[in-house]
Amino acid sequence: MSKTFYLTTPIYYVNDAPHLGHAYTTIAGDVLTRWHRQRGESVWYLTGTDEHGQKVMRTAEANGVAPQEWTDRLVEDAWKPLWKHLNIANDDFIRTTSERHMSRVQRFLEKLKESGYIYEGEYDGLYCVGCEEFKLPGDILEKDGEKTCPTHSRALEEVAETNWFFKLSAFAKPLLERYQQHPETCEPASARNEVISFLSGDVVDLSISRSSFNWGIPVSWDPGQVVYVWFDALLNYATAVGLGDDPASEGGKKFADTWPASVHLVGKDILRFHAVIWPAMLMAAGLPLPEKVFAHGWLLVGGEKMSKSKLTGIAPSDITSHFGVDAYRYYFMRAISFGSDGSFSWEDISARYTSELANDFGNLASRTIAMIEKYCDAKVPAVADEPILSDALADAVRVADEKMCALDFQGGLVAIMDFCKRVNGYVTEQAPWVLAKDDSKRAELDRVLYATAESLRALAILLHATMPETTEKLWESLGAHQSIGALGDQRIASAGMWGGLPAGTHVVKGEVLFPRLLEE
Ligand code: ME8
Ligand code: MG
Repeated sequence: MSKTFYLTTPIYYVNDAPHLGHAYTTIAGDVLTRWHRQRGESVWYLTGTDEHGQKVMRTAEANGVAPQEWTDRLVEDAWKPLWKHLNIANDDFIRTTSERHMSRVQRFLEKLKESGYIYEGEYDGLYCVGCEEFKLPGDILEKDGEKTCPTHSRALEEVAETNWFFKLSAFAKPLLERYQQHPETCEPASARNEVISFLSGDVVDLSISRSSFNWGIPVSWDPGQVVYVWFDALLNYATAVGLGDDPASEGGKKFADTWPASVHLVGKDILRFHAVIWPAMLMAAGLPLPEKVFAHGWLLVGGEKMSKSKLTGIAPSDITSHFGVDAYRYYFMRAISFGSDGSFSWEDISARYTSELANDFGNLASRTIAMIEKYCDAKVPAVADEPILSDALADAVRVADEKMCALDFQGGLVAIMDFCKRVNGYVTEQAPWVLAKDDSKRAELDRVLYATAESLRALAILLHATMPETTEKLWESLGAHQSIGALGDQRIASAGMWGGLPAGTHVVKGEVLFPRLLEE
Protein backbone atom coordinates (compact mmCIF):
# COMPACT_ATOMS: atom_id res chain seq x y z
CA MET A 1 0.00 0.00 0.00
CA SER A 2 1.28 3.43 -0.90
CA LYS A 3 1.12 6.01 1.85
CA THR A 4 -0.97 8.40 -0.17
CA PHE A 5 -4.38 7.74 -1.69
CA TYR A 6 -3.37 8.53 -5.26
CA LEU A 7 -6.20 8.75 -7.78
CA THR A 8 -6.04 9.54 -11.50
CA THR A 9 -8.50 10.25 -14.30
CA PRO A 10 -7.69 9.52 -17.92
CA ILE A 11 -5.84 12.38 -19.56
CA TYR A 12 -8.27 13.58 -22.19
CA TYR A 13 -7.60 14.31 -25.85
CA VAL A 14 -7.60 17.99 -26.59
CA ASN A 15 -8.91 17.70 -30.12
CA ASP A 16 -12.02 19.41 -28.78
CA ALA A 17 -13.66 20.91 -25.69
CA PRO A 18 -14.76 18.69 -22.79
CA HIS A 19 -18.27 17.22 -22.78
CA LEU A 20 -20.56 15.51 -20.24
CA GLY A 21 -18.61 12.24 -20.48
CA HIS A 22 -15.29 13.79 -19.45
CA ALA A 23 -17.00 15.72 -16.67
CA TYR A 24 -18.55 12.48 -15.41
CA THR A 25 -15.19 10.79 -14.75
CA THR A 26 -13.58 13.92 -13.34
CA ILE A 27 -16.46 14.59 -10.92
CA ALA A 28 -16.41 10.97 -9.74
CA GLY A 29 -12.69 11.34 -9.05
CA ASP A 30 -13.28 14.58 -7.24
CA VAL A 31 -16.03 13.16 -5.02
CA LEU A 32 -13.91 10.14 -4.17
CA THR A 33 -10.76 12.11 -3.36
CA ARG A 34 -12.68 14.67 -1.29
CA TRP A 35 -14.22 11.76 0.64
CA HIS A 36 -10.79 10.24 1.33
CA ARG A 37 -9.44 13.62 2.44
CA GLN A 38 -12.34 13.81 4.90
CA ARG A 39 -11.33 10.39 6.17
CA GLY A 40 -8.09 12.07 7.18
CA GLU A 41 -5.97 10.39 4.53
CA SER A 42 -3.18 11.96 2.56
CA VAL A 43 -4.55 12.32 -0.98
CA TRP A 44 -3.18 13.15 -4.42
CA TYR A 45 -5.61 13.76 -7.29
CA LEU A 46 -4.26 13.98 -10.83
CA THR A 47 -5.97 14.88 -14.08
CA GLY A 48 -4.61 16.30 -17.32
CA THR A 49 -4.53 16.29 -21.10
CA ASP A 50 -3.30 13.96 -23.83
CA GLU A 51 -1.91 16.19 -26.54
CA HIS A 52 0.16 14.16 -29.00
CA GLY A 53 -0.85 11.86 -31.84
CA GLN A 54 -2.60 12.11 -35.18
CA LYS A 55 -6.06 12.87 -33.85
CA VAL A 56 -4.96 16.11 -32.18
CA MET A 57 -2.50 16.94 -34.96
CA ARG A 58 -5.14 16.62 -37.69
CA THR A 59 -7.67 18.73 -35.78
CA ALA A 60 -5.09 21.46 -35.33
CA GLU A 61 -4.25 21.30 -39.05
CA ALA A 62 -7.92 21.46 -39.98
CA ASN A 63 -8.15 24.62 -37.89
CA GLY A 64 -5.07 26.09 -39.51
CA VAL A 65 -2.92 26.27 -36.36
CA ALA A 66 0.20 24.48 -35.17
CA PRO A 67 -0.61 21.59 -32.79
CA GLN A 68 1.14 23.16 -29.81
CA GLU A 69 -0.76 26.40 -30.25
CA TRP A 70 -4.00 24.46 -30.61
CA THR A 71 -3.48 22.44 -27.44
CA ASP A 72 -2.31 25.48 -25.43
CA ARG A 73 -5.46 27.27 -26.43
CA LEU A 74 -7.84 24.41 -25.63
CA VAL A 75 -6.22 23.59 -22.31
CA GLU A 76 -6.36 27.18 -21.09
CA ASP A 77 -9.69 28.22 -22.62
CA ALA A 78 -11.76 25.06 -22.34
CA TRP A 79 -10.39 22.29 -20.12
CA LYS A 80 -8.96 24.05 -17.09
CA PRO A 81 -11.88 26.52 -16.88
CA LEU A 82 -14.44 23.70 -16.85
CA TRP A 83 -12.69 21.92 -13.99
CA LYS A 84 -12.60 25.17 -12.08
CA HIS A 85 -16.27 25.78 -12.78
CA LEU A 86 -17.18 22.28 -11.58
CA ASN A 87 -15.19 22.82 -8.39
CA ILE A 88 -12.69 20.05 -9.10
CA ALA A 89 -9.98 20.07 -6.42
CA ASN A 90 -7.22 18.29 -8.37
CA ASP A 91 -3.74 18.57 -6.88
CA ASP A 92 -1.94 18.52 -10.22
CA PHE A 93 -2.66 18.83 -13.93
CA ILE A 94 -0.33 17.03 -16.32
CA ARG A 95 0.07 17.91 -19.97
CA THR A 96 1.90 15.43 -22.19
CA THR A 97 3.61 18.29 -24.02
CA SER A 98 5.28 19.46 -20.81
CA GLU A 99 9.03 19.06 -20.41
CA ARG A 100 8.67 17.17 -17.10
CA HIS A 101 6.62 14.51 -18.87
CA MET A 102 8.57 14.26 -22.13
CA SER A 103 12.00 13.84 -20.56
CA ARG A 104 10.77 11.15 -18.16
CA VAL A 105 9.07 9.24 -20.98
CA GLN A 106 12.31 9.21 -22.96
CA ARG A 107 14.28 7.99 -19.98
CA PHE A 108 11.73 5.24 -19.28
CA LEU A 109 11.91 4.04 -22.88
CA GLU A 110 15.69 3.96 -22.87
CA LYS A 111 15.61 1.79 -19.77
CA LEU A 112 13.12 -0.63 -21.32
CA LYS A 113 15.33 -0.92 -24.38
CA GLU A 114 18.39 -1.59 -22.25
CA SER A 115 16.52 -4.40 -20.49
CA GLY A 116 15.68 -5.98 -23.84
CA TYR A 117 11.93 -5.34 -23.96
CA ILE A 118 12.06 -3.17 -27.07
CA TYR A 119 13.05 -4.34 -30.53
CA GLU A 120 12.77 -3.13 -34.13
CA GLY A 121 10.17 -4.68 -36.43
CA GLU A 122 7.75 -4.13 -39.30
CA TYR A 123 4.21 -3.06 -38.59
CA ASP A 124 1.73 -3.78 -41.31
CA GLY A 125 -1.90 -3.43 -40.35
CA LEU A 126 -4.84 -1.19 -39.66
CA TYR A 127 -5.09 1.85 -37.43
CA CYS A 128 -8.00 3.91 -36.09
CA VAL A 129 -7.06 7.54 -35.54
CA GLY A 130 -10.27 8.04 -33.50
CA CYS A 131 -9.12 5.41 -30.98
CA GLU A 132 -5.42 6.01 -31.71
CA GLU A 133 -5.20 2.23 -31.77
CA PHE A 134 -3.63 -0.52 -33.88
CA LYS A 135 -6.60 -2.74 -34.61
CA LEU A 136 -6.46 -6.48 -34.06
CA PRO A 137 -8.50 -8.81 -36.28
CA GLY A 138 -11.17 -9.20 -33.56
CA ASP A 139 -11.68 -5.41 -33.32
CA ILE A 140 -12.52 -4.81 -36.97
CA LEU A 141 -16.02 -4.38 -38.36
CA GLU A 142 -16.64 -5.13 -42.05
CA LYS A 143 -19.13 -2.61 -43.42
CA ASP A 144 -20.04 -2.31 -47.12
CA GLY A 145 -16.84 -4.14 -48.03
CA GLU A 146 -14.79 -1.71 -45.94
CA LYS A 147 -12.85 -2.39 -42.76
CA THR A 148 -14.15 0.03 -40.12
CA CYS A 149 -13.77 0.82 -36.42
CA PRO A 150 -16.83 -0.34 -34.46
CA THR A 151 -16.55 2.66 -32.10
CA HIS A 152 -16.04 5.40 -34.65
CA SER A 153 -17.85 3.78 -37.63
CA ARG A 154 -15.06 5.14 -39.82
CA ALA A 155 -12.75 3.43 -42.29
CA LEU A 156 -9.49 2.20 -40.76
CA GLU A 157 -6.18 3.43 -42.19
CA GLU A 158 -3.47 1.13 -43.48
CA VAL A 159 -0.12 1.51 -41.79
CA ALA A 160 3.06 -0.11 -43.05
CA GLU A 161 6.10 1.17 -41.15
CA THR A 162 9.32 0.06 -39.55
CA ASN A 163 8.62 0.66 -35.87
CA TRP A 164 9.90 -0.10 -32.41
CA PHE A 165 7.96 -2.86 -30.67
CA PHE A 166 7.32 -3.62 -27.01
CA LYS A 167 7.29 -7.29 -25.90
CA LEU A 168 3.74 -7.16 -24.62
CA SER A 169 3.23 -10.88 -25.23
CA ALA A 170 5.71 -11.71 -22.47
CA PHE A 171 3.35 -10.28 -19.86
CA ALA A 172 0.06 -11.93 -20.77
CA LYS A 173 0.57 -14.88 -18.44
CA PRO A 174 1.74 -12.98 -15.34
CA LEU A 175 -1.10 -10.48 -15.83
CA LEU A 176 -3.67 -13.21 -16.19
CA GLU A 177 -2.45 -14.73 -12.93
CA ARG A 178 -2.63 -11.38 -11.23
CA TYR A 179 -6.28 -10.80 -12.16
CA GLN A 180 -7.20 -14.32 -11.18
CA GLN A 181 -5.44 -14.09 -7.83
CA HIS A 182 -6.25 -10.46 -7.04
CA PRO A 183 -9.64 -9.75 -8.58
CA GLU A 184 -9.91 -6.42 -6.71
CA THR A 185 -7.21 -4.96 -8.97
CA CYS A 186 -9.64 -4.69 -11.88
CA GLU A 187 -13.27 -3.71 -11.28
CA PRO A 188 -16.17 -4.08 -11.78
CA ALA A 189 -16.37 -7.83 -12.48
CA SER A 190 -17.67 -7.27 -16.02
CA ALA A 191 -14.51 -5.30 -16.83
CA ARG A 192 -12.26 -7.91 -15.22
CA ASN A 193 -13.90 -10.72 -17.21
CA GLU A 194 -13.30 -8.85 -20.44
CA VAL A 195 -9.63 -8.39 -19.57
CA ILE A 196 -9.23 -12.01 -18.53
CA SER A 197 -10.74 -13.19 -21.78
CA PHE A 198 -8.44 -10.89 -23.77
CA LEU A 199 -5.38 -12.11 -21.89
CA SER A 200 -6.41 -15.74 -22.41
CA GLY A 201 -6.29 -15.23 -26.18
CA ASP A 202 -3.36 -14.58 -28.44
CA VAL A 203 -1.64 -11.45 -27.11
CA VAL A 204 0.78 -9.99 -29.66
CA ASP A 205 3.59 -7.46 -29.26
CA LEU A 206 2.78 -3.78 -29.59
CA SER A 207 4.19 -1.20 -31.98
CA ILE A 208 5.21 1.71 -29.79
CA SER A 209 6.55 4.24 -32.27
CA ARG A 210 5.47 5.94 -35.50
CA SER A 211 7.53 7.35 -38.34
CA SER A 212 5.01 8.88 -40.73
CA PHE A 213 4.34 12.07 -38.73
CA ASN A 214 6.20 14.01 -36.06
CA TRP A 215 3.68 15.30 -33.48
CA GLY A 216 4.95 13.32 -30.51
CA ILE A 217 7.87 12.66 -28.21
CA PRO A 218 11.00 11.79 -30.23
CA VAL A 219 12.44 8.33 -29.64
CA SER A 220 15.81 9.41 -28.26
CA TRP A 221 17.95 6.81 -30.06
CA ASP A 222 15.97 7.11 -33.33
CA PRO A 223 14.85 10.72 -33.84
CA GLY A 224 12.99 9.83 -37.06
CA GLN A 225 10.35 8.18 -34.87
CA VAL A 226 7.92 9.52 -32.27
CA VAL A 227 6.57 7.52 -29.35
CA TYR A 228 3.12 5.95 -29.98
CA VAL A 229 0.60 8.27 -28.33
CA TRP A 230 -0.80 5.66 -25.91
CA PHE A 231 2.66 4.64 -24.71
CA ASP A 232 3.36 8.31 -24.08
CA ALA A 233 -0.04 8.97 -22.46
CA LEU A 234 -0.18 6.02 -20.06
CA LEU A 235 3.13 7.06 -18.58
CA ASN A 236 1.59 10.35 -17.37
CA TYR A 237 0.37 8.66 -14.20
CA ALA A 238 3.96 8.01 -13.21
CA THR A 239 5.81 10.94 -14.82
CA ALA A 240 3.54 13.39 -12.99
CA VAL A 241 4.81 12.09 -9.66
CA GLY A 242 8.50 11.90 -10.52
CA LEU A 243 9.05 8.58 -12.35
CA GLY A 244 12.72 7.69 -12.60
CA ASP A 245 14.00 10.64 -10.58
CA ASP A 246 16.85 10.26 -8.10
CA PRO A 247 15.30 8.91 -4.85
CA ALA A 248 16.90 11.74 -2.89
CA SER A 249 15.35 14.44 -5.11
CA GLU A 250 11.96 16.03 -4.69
CA GLY A 251 10.54 13.99 -7.58
CA GLY A 252 12.00 10.79 -6.18
CA LYS A 253 10.44 11.42 -2.79
CA LYS A 254 7.09 12.22 -4.35
CA PHE A 255 7.24 8.98 -6.29
CA ALA A 256 8.01 6.94 -3.20
CA ASP A 257 5.10 8.59 -1.43
CA THR A 258 2.48 8.16 -4.18
CA TRP A 259 3.40 5.14 -6.29
CA PRO A 260 1.72 2.77 -6.96
CA ALA A 261 -1.51 4.61 -7.75
CA SER A 262 -4.47 3.57 -5.58
CA VAL A 263 -7.07 3.84 -8.33
CA HIS A 264 -6.95 4.59 -12.04
CA LEU A 265 -10.43 5.75 -12.94
CA VAL A 266 -11.28 5.15 -16.61
CA GLY A 267 -14.24 4.69 -18.91
CA LYS A 268 -14.69 1.16 -20.22
CA ASP A 269 -13.66 2.33 -23.71
CA ILE A 270 -10.04 2.45 -22.60
CA LEU A 271 -10.00 -0.50 -20.23
CA ARG A 272 -7.63 -2.68 -22.25
CA PHE A 273 -4.97 0.04 -22.41
CA HIS A 274 -5.11 0.39 -18.63
CA ALA A 275 -5.51 -3.22 -17.57
CA VAL A 276 -3.17 -4.83 -20.11
CA ILE A 277 -0.67 -2.47 -21.73
CA TRP A 278 -0.02 -0.19 -18.75
CA PRO A 279 0.67 -2.88 -16.13
CA ALA A 280 2.83 -4.73 -18.67
CA MET A 281 4.92 -1.58 -19.14
CA LEU A 282 5.31 -1.32 -15.37
CA MET A 283 6.21 -4.99 -15.00
CA ALA A 284 8.85 -4.63 -17.69
CA ALA A 285 10.35 -1.74 -15.74
CA GLY A 286 10.18 -3.63 -12.45
CA LEU A 287 7.76 -1.14 -10.91
CA PRO A 288 4.82 -1.94 -8.62
CA LEU A 289 1.42 -2.20 -10.30
CA PRO A 290 -1.55 0.06 -9.54
CA GLU A 291 -3.80 -1.21 -6.77
CA LYS A 292 -6.93 -0.88 -8.88
CA VAL A 293 -8.23 -0.01 -12.32
CA PHE A 294 -11.92 0.85 -12.20
CA ALA A 295 -13.79 1.08 -15.51
CA HIS A 296 -17.08 2.95 -15.27
CA GLY A 297 -19.90 2.78 -17.81
CA TRP A 298 -20.88 5.14 -20.58
CA LEU A 299 -23.22 8.05 -20.64
CA LEU A 300 -25.54 7.20 -23.47
CA VAL A 301 -27.48 9.39 -25.82
CA GLY A 302 -30.21 7.68 -27.79
CA GLY A 303 -28.73 4.35 -26.74
CA GLU A 304 -25.24 5.18 -28.07
CA LYS A 305 -22.07 6.27 -26.29
CA MET A 306 -21.89 10.00 -26.10
CA SER A 307 -18.74 11.23 -27.82
CA LYS A 308 -17.27 14.29 -29.45
CA SER A 309 -18.62 13.16 -32.78
CA LYS A 310 -22.07 12.35 -31.38
CA LEU A 311 -22.87 15.21 -29.05
CA THR A 312 -26.19 15.78 -27.37
CA GLY A 313 -26.01 19.45 -28.00
CA ILE A 314 -26.02 19.84 -24.21
CA ALA A 315 -22.78 21.14 -22.70
CA PRO A 316 -22.00 20.87 -18.98
CA SER A 317 -22.54 24.61 -18.61
CA ASP A 318 -26.09 24.34 -20.02
CA ILE A 319 -26.93 22.07 -17.12
CA THR A 320 -25.08 23.98 -14.42
CA SER A 321 -26.57 27.31 -15.44
CA HIS A 322 -30.03 25.88 -14.81
CA PHE A 323 -29.47 23.59 -11.81
CA GLY A 324 -26.21 24.84 -10.33
CA VAL A 325 -22.87 23.06 -10.08
CA ASP A 326 -23.66 21.05 -6.94
CA ALA A 327 -26.92 19.62 -8.28
CA TYR A 328 -25.02 18.64 -11.43
CA ARG A 329 -22.36 16.83 -9.40
CA TYR A 330 -24.99 15.18 -7.23
CA TYR A 331 -27.17 14.08 -10.13
CA PHE A 332 -24.59 12.08 -12.07
CA MET A 333 -23.30 10.32 -8.95
CA ARG A 334 -26.78 9.59 -7.60
CA ALA A 335 -28.68 8.65 -10.74
CA ILE A 336 -26.25 6.28 -12.47
CA SER A 337 -24.75 3.20 -10.91
CA PHE A 338 -20.98 3.60 -11.35
CA GLY A 339 -19.80 0.76 -13.57
CA SER A 340 -23.05 0.57 -15.56
CA ASP A 341 -24.13 2.62 -18.57
CA GLY A 342 -26.67 5.36 -17.96
CA SER A 343 -28.65 7.98 -19.81
CA PHE A 344 -28.84 11.62 -18.90
CA SER A 345 -32.27 13.19 -19.09
CA TRP A 346 -33.38 16.72 -18.39
CA GLU A 347 -36.65 15.38 -16.87
CA ASP A 348 -34.80 13.09 -14.49
CA ILE A 349 -32.42 15.76 -13.20
CA SER A 350 -35.36 18.18 -12.78
CA ALA A 351 -37.35 15.62 -10.82
CA ARG A 352 -34.44 14.72 -8.53
CA TYR A 353 -33.52 18.34 -8.02
CA THR A 354 -37.00 19.12 -6.78
CA SER A 355 -37.71 16.04 -4.69
CA GLU A 356 -34.30 15.07 -3.29
CA LEU A 357 -32.40 18.34 -3.14
CA ALA A 358 -34.94 21.16 -2.81
CA ASN A 359 -37.63 19.31 -0.82
CA ASP A 360 -35.85 16.66 1.23
CA PHE A 361 -32.58 18.46 1.92
CA GLY A 362 -33.01 22.20 1.30
CA ASN A 363 -36.38 22.51 3.02
CA LEU A 364 -35.23 20.56 6.05
CA ALA A 365 -32.39 23.03 6.46
CA SER A 366 -34.48 26.17 6.03
CA ARG A 367 -37.33 24.94 8.27
CA THR A 368 -34.93 23.95 11.02
CA ILE A 369 -33.00 27.21 11.00
CA ALA A 370 -36.25 29.21 10.89
CA MET A 371 -37.66 27.36 13.92
CA ILE A 372 -34.49 27.74 15.97
CA GLU A 373 -34.56 31.46 15.21
CA LYS A 374 -38.21 31.76 16.14
CA TYR A 375 -38.47 29.49 19.18
CA CYS A 376 -34.93 29.49 20.57
CA ASP A 377 -33.65 32.98 19.94
CA ALA A 378 -31.41 31.61 17.15
CA LYS A 379 -29.41 29.49 19.61
CA VAL A 380 -29.06 25.71 19.28
CA PRO A 381 -30.73 24.16 22.38
CA ALA A 382 -28.98 21.89 24.88
CA VAL A 383 -27.41 18.70 23.54
CA ALA A 384 -30.00 15.94 23.80
CA ASP A 385 -30.14 12.22 23.02
CA GLU A 386 -32.49 11.02 20.30
CA PRO A 387 -31.71 7.34 19.69
CA ILE A 388 -34.07 6.89 16.74
CA LEU A 389 -32.02 9.45 14.83
CA SER A 390 -28.58 8.82 16.27
CA ASP A 391 -28.85 5.08 15.56
CA ALA A 392 -30.03 5.71 11.99
CA LEU A 393 -27.19 8.18 11.55
CA ALA A 394 -24.53 5.78 12.80
CA ASP A 395 -25.79 3.20 10.30
CA ALA A 396 -25.87 5.74 7.47
CA VAL A 397 -22.28 6.80 8.13
CA ARG A 398 -21.07 3.22 8.21
CA VAL A 399 -22.86 2.24 5.01
CA ALA A 400 -21.97 5.47 3.17
CA ASP A 401 -18.29 5.09 4.03
CA GLU A 402 -18.24 1.49 2.90
CA LYS A 403 -20.00 2.27 -0.39
CA MET A 404 -18.02 5.42 -1.22
CA CYS A 405 -14.72 3.66 -0.64
CA ALA A 406 -15.91 0.89 -2.96
CA LEU A 407 -16.70 3.54 -5.64
CA ASP A 408 -20.43 2.87 -5.27
CA PHE A 409 -21.37 6.54 -5.27
CA GLN A 410 -25.01 5.79 -5.82
CA GLY A 411 -25.13 3.43 -2.84
CA GLY A 412 -23.32 5.96 -0.66
CA LEU A 413 -25.64 8.81 -1.59
CA VAL A 414 -28.74 6.66 -1.13
CA ALA A 415 -27.62 5.85 2.43
CA ILE A 416 -27.10 9.55 3.18
CA MET A 417 -30.31 10.74 1.56
CA ASP A 418 -32.34 7.99 3.24
CA PHE A 419 -31.14 9.38 6.54
CA CYS A 420 -32.21 12.83 5.37
CA LYS A 421 -35.69 11.46 4.63
CA ARG A 422 -35.76 9.84 8.06
CA VAL A 423 -35.08 13.23 9.66
CA ASN A 424 -37.87 14.82 7.62
CA GLY A 425 -40.23 12.09 8.83
CA TYR A 426 -39.14 12.78 12.40
CA VAL A 427 -39.91 16.49 12.12
CA THR A 428 -43.34 15.73 10.70
CA GLU A 429 -44.08 13.21 13.48
CA GLN A 430 -42.83 15.44 16.29
CA ALA A 431 -44.44 18.61 14.90
CA PRO A 432 -42.30 21.13 16.79
CA TRP A 433 -44.64 23.95 15.71
CA VAL A 434 -47.36 22.28 17.80
CA LEU A 435 -45.01 21.71 20.77
CA ALA A 436 -44.13 25.41 20.60
CA LYS A 437 -47.69 26.37 21.46
CA ASP A 438 -47.56 24.63 24.83
CA ASP A 439 -45.15 25.93 27.52
CA SER A 440 -45.14 22.58 29.29
CA LYS A 441 -43.62 21.00 26.16
CA ARG A 442 -40.57 23.25 26.21
CA ALA A 443 -38.08 20.45 26.95
CA GLU A 444 -39.55 18.33 24.18
CA LEU A 445 -39.40 21.17 21.72
CA ASP A 446 -35.74 21.77 22.57
CA ARG A 447 -34.93 18.11 22.14
CA VAL A 448 -36.59 17.92 18.72
CA LEU A 449 -34.87 21.04 17.45
CA TYR A 450 -31.52 19.94 18.78
CA ALA A 451 -31.86 16.55 17.12
CA THR A 452 -32.79 18.12 13.82
CA ALA A 453 -29.96 20.66 13.83
CA GLU A 454 -27.51 17.95 14.87
CA SER A 455 -28.69 15.80 11.96
CA LEU A 456 -28.03 18.72 9.62
CA ARG A 457 -24.48 18.99 10.97
CA ALA A 458 -23.96 15.36 10.00
CA LEU A 459 -25.57 15.81 6.57
CA ALA A 460 -23.31 18.77 5.80
CA ILE A 461 -20.25 16.64 6.51
CA LEU A 462 -21.51 13.62 4.58
CA LEU A 463 -22.60 15.59 1.52
CA HIS A 464 -19.57 17.87 1.43
CA ALA A 465 -17.58 15.71 -1.00
CA THR A 466 -20.46 15.66 -3.47
CA MET A 467 -21.79 19.21 -3.00
CA PRO A 468 -18.92 21.30 -1.61
CA GLU A 469 -20.45 24.72 -2.09
CA THR A 470 -23.99 24.10 -0.83
CA THR A 471 -22.78 22.29 2.27
CA GLU A 472 -20.52 25.29 3.06
CA LYS A 473 -23.59 27.51 2.96
CA LEU A 474 -25.43 25.17 5.30
CA TRP A 475 -22.43 25.04 7.61
CA GLU A 476 -22.38 28.85 7.81
CA SER A 477 -26.10 28.95 8.38
CA LEU A 478 -25.83 26.43 11.23
CA GLY A 479 -23.16 28.62 12.81
CA ALA A 480 -20.97 25.52 12.87
CA HIS A 481 -18.00 27.34 11.39
CA GLN A 482 -17.74 29.38 14.60
CA SER A 483 -18.63 26.65 17.10
CA ILE A 484 -16.87 23.65 15.49
CA GLY A 485 -14.41 24.81 12.82
CA ALA A 486 -14.00 24.53 9.06
CA LEU A 487 -16.26 22.03 7.31
CA GLY A 488 -13.42 20.60 5.22
CA ASP A 489 -11.65 19.59 8.45
CA GLN A 490 -14.56 17.49 9.69
CA ARG A 491 -13.87 13.77 9.52
CA ILE A 492 -16.40 11.33 8.10
CA ALA A 493 -16.36 9.33 11.33
CA SER A 494 -17.20 12.44 13.36
CA ALA A 495 -20.43 12.85 11.38
CA GLY A 496 -21.79 9.80 13.17
CA MET A 497 -20.81 10.88 16.68
CA TRP A 498 -23.99 12.30 18.09
CA GLY A 499 -23.72 15.56 19.99
CA GLY A 500 -21.11 17.29 17.84
CA LEU A 501 -23.08 20.53 17.48
CA PRO A 502 -22.57 22.53 20.70
CA ALA A 503 -25.49 24.08 22.57
CA GLY A 504 -25.70 27.83 22.08
CA THR A 505 -24.36 27.75 18.50
CA HIS A 506 -25.76 30.79 16.78
CA VAL A 507 -27.75 29.97 13.63
CA VAL A 508 -28.42 32.46 10.87
CA LYS A 509 -30.92 32.26 8.09
CA GLY A 510 -28.91 31.98 4.86
CA GLU A 511 -29.87 31.90 1.21
CA VAL A 512 -32.12 29.08 0.01
CA LEU A 513 -29.89 26.07 -0.74
CA PHE A 514 -31.78 24.86 -3.81
CA PRO A 515 -33.98 27.62 -5.22
CA ARG A 516 -37.17 26.74 -7.05
CA LEU A 517 -36.41 26.10 -10.72
CA LEU A 518 -37.50 28.64 -13.27
CA GLU A 519 -39.77 27.17 -15.92
CA GLU A 520 -38.03 26.60 -19.25
O1 ME8 B 1 -9.31 8.09 -24.43
N1 ME8 B 1 -19.48 8.27 -20.92
O2 ME8 B 1 -9.23 10.38 -24.17
P1 ME8 B 1 -10.74 10.80 -24.46
C1 ME8 B 1 -18.65 8.19 -19.87
N2 ME8 B 1 -6.63 10.35 -24.25
N3 ME8 B 1 -17.38 8.62 -19.88
C2 ME8 B 1 -16.93 9.17 -21.03
C3 ME8 B 1 -17.74 9.30 -22.17
C4 ME8 B 1 -19.07 8.82 -22.09
N4 ME8 B 1 -19.92 8.88 -23.09
N5 ME8 B 1 -17.03 9.89 -23.13
C5 ME8 B 1 -15.79 10.13 -22.60
C6 ME8 B 1 -8.71 9.13 -24.26
N6 ME8 B 1 -15.73 9.71 -21.33
C7 ME8 B 1 -7.21 9.08 -24.00
C8 ME8 B 1 -6.96 8.63 -22.58
S1 ME8 B 1 -5.34 7.99 -20.54
C9 ME8 B 1 -3.74 7.58 -20.38
C10 ME8 B 1 -5.52 8.49 -22.21
C11 ME8 B 1 -14.57 9.79 -20.43
O3 ME8 B 1 -10.72 12.28 -24.61
C12 ME8 B 1 -14.17 8.40 -19.94
O4 ME8 B 1 -13.38 8.55 -18.79
O5 ME8 B 1 -11.31 10.00 -25.58
C13 ME8 B 1 -13.33 7.92 -21.09
O6 ME8 B 1 -12.52 6.81 -20.76
C14 ME8 B 1 -12.52 9.17 -21.38
O7 ME8 B 1 -13.46 10.25 -21.17
C15 ME8 B 1 -11.96 9.19 -22.80
O8 ME8 B 1 -11.48 10.47 -23.09
MG1 MG C 1 -12.28 8.69 -26.83
